[in-house]
Amino acid sequence: MTHVVVITLTTTFLLLALDRAGGLRDNQNVYVPPAPKVAAPPADPDKGKPPPHNDTVDDFPDGKGREIAFYTCTACHGVALIKAQGLTRDLWDSTFDLMLEKHRMPPVKAEDRAEILDYLAEQFPPRRKGRGSDNPFLK
Ligand code: HEC
Repeated sequence: MTHVVVITLTTTFLLLALDRAGGLRDNQNVYVPPAPKVAAPPADPDKGKPPPHNDTVDDFPDGKGREIAFYTCTACHGVALIKAQGLTRDLWDSTFDLMLEKHRMPPVKAEDRAEILDYLAEQFPPRRKGRGSDNPFLK
């Protein structure tokens, strides 16, 4: 009789011990390391591209050259990037070159370029220097 009790208890403890160790269950919470990367993923064609936008010509301030500036300059990015800048005509000119050379903007006719630069220089001039000019809460 005693050894029946002993065997039963031993079996119970053995089963408990096995269960605690996870031996009776599927490997539920076991960390499985991620499979090693075999090949590099294909290059993302959108890498480095500005995010898409839904801007319309009305998002540009009214003025001469608004349409041409809008349609020339928002093919790749929204107006926010442009509005964030306050530049002299010369610096807008350099920005224009940057768009052409670095970002491969399609060529623009000389008279169109002049009109766009006039518009940009007129609407987005350098911001006034002085107290508060760099305080975002005063903008
Ligand atoms: C062919 C595509 C393309 C066109 C067209 C284009 N840009 Fe850009 N522009 C870019 C890209 C790409 C960037 C970089 C965006 C970024 O960094 O997220 C950029 C950035 C800018 C910036 C921000 C630069 C900075 O230093 O933060 C300004 C300002 C800008 N563009 C103005 C213009 C103006 C003005 C025109 C029209 C004359 C124009 N862009 C037309 C592609 C273009």
